[in-house]
Amino acid sequence: WAHSSLSVVVLGASGDLAKKKIFPALFALYYEGLLPPNVQFFGYARTKMTDVAFREMIAGTLTCRVNSRERCLEAQETFLQRCFYQAGSYDQQQGFISLNTRMSGQEASMPRANRIFFLSIPPNVFLDATGNAADCASSRTGWTRVIVEKPFGRDSDSSKELAEGLGRHLSEEQIYRIDHYLGKELIENLTVLRFSNSVFEPLWSRQHIRNVQVIFSENFGTEGRGGYFDRYGIIRDVIQNHLLQILALFAMEQPVSLDAEDIRSEKVKVLRSMKVVSAEDVVVGQYRAKGNLPAYLDDSTVPVGSLTETFAAVAMFIDNARWDGVPFLLKAGKALHKRYAEIRVQFRHVPGNLYRSKQGSNLDAHTNELVIRIQPKEAIYLKINNKVPGLGLRLDTSRLDLQYQSAFASNDLPDAYERLLLDVVNGDKRLFIRADELEAAWNLYTPLLHALEKNKVAPELYPYGSRGPVGAHYLAAKYGVRWGDLN
Ligand code: BG6
Repeated sequence: WAHSSLSVVVLGASGDLAKKKIFPALFALYYEGLLPPNVQFFGYARTKMTDVAFREMIAGTLTCRVNSRERCLEAQETFLQRCFYQAGSYDQQQGFISLNTRMSGQEASMPRANRIFFLSIPPNVFLDATGNAADCASSRTGWTRVIVEKPFGRDSDSSKELAEGLGRHLSEEQIYRIDHYLGKELIENLTVLRFSNSVFEPLWSRQHIRNVQVIFSENFGTEGRGGYFDRYGIIRDVIQNHLLQILALFAMEQPVSLDAEDIRSEKVKVLRSMKVVSAEDVVVGQYRAKGNLPAYLDDSTVPVGSLTETFAAVAMFIDNARWDGVPFLLKAGKALHKRYAEIRVQFRHVPGNLYRSKQGSNLDAHTNELVIRIQPKEAIYLKINNKVPGLGLRLDTSRLDLQYQSAFASNDLPDAYERLLLDVVNGDKRLFIRADELEAAWNLYTPLLHALEKNKVAPELYPYGSRGPVGAHYLAAKYGVRWGDLN
């Protein structure tokens, strides 16, 4: 870093993501001393604002995980002094030219000026903004990297169009497609758990695993964000990206190395081995009002009579030797009973089980289950059958339990955006989506999404705060699966 500066530009700086995630993550990295000494941060958006007003706006979002309050306040002050704001439109060059001049002013003393652009902006201005940023504000002396957030299109064709558009201004090497689930601690740990533990790796196949469930549940609705959400729905918003990425990491073969290209090549391979999702293997739902809690259709930003799904459960299959016939069930929903995300791996029943008579008739209750709780209260636990201590012989289910909060003397874990932003600074692409991965992901879901739209499939209504539509249970039952219970 001795001879280079770093400028981080957040396009869409007055938006929700910038305030809730990006600036707090940048501050956390700055506070930890993980950014180069010569770093500055630029906000860019349409709203007119002075540097001072911008600093005030983000000051309220900065928090410290680390103990010393005094040190934290001091760091906040110096961080804010490094924050600048440039107003401008996305589809005209003028704002970007001014931005470039201001950045150059800050970078002047350094022979190499590296620049990161974070595109936290609506899809309709994506390409214009990228073109203008690339033409008017890329670095002339160092590298320029661009972070893009979903939506990466709405289906295979629109995603391809977007990729071509981005490709006109940027090389693949410069593009960092973010999926923030890949930055979560337990997701990064997934491959460690599997590939570095000889007790797990040999079990990771159809011989021992009966089914795998990936569950995403939120206990709040769209609440004012319905305008964006309604154009996408939960399948595009969460399943086709976050949950499918988890599935790819879970099911891929061991990569040749930990190198980004090797990991991503394995992910692409397993994605391409998956069966295209069929309409028979999907249940869609939409939340309705319950007591004081509003229906999705009560959100004033949602069009009247919208059929957009706020819940979906999907059964997926992987056509390869390792996973043939194993159902992978993905479920995601808003306005459900709890906020949590988990992976559940249900193992096969013990053949010729000596203790069956001691376990009662419900075999599912005694199935070994590995649970990876992504959030909240990160944990990994394995449900095993165990003798109830004491005289006599009674079996019950117990847990081998790794609770992160008590096992590791860390306070809160770093936010996914911290990890991912640091990776961009370091040029590490392991946790970012490659173009062919994205294409493979869209190929799996595009026919289904088109069929739902064309046939105007009415979602099954479920009450706000419930566990979702009953249809999800029938879908699981069709493949002999019971959804694991949050416990
Ligand atoms: C985003 C979705 O990608 O992920 C949101 O667009 C969702 O709809 C969010 O709420 C969930 O992220 P997290 O990290 O809070 O689980």
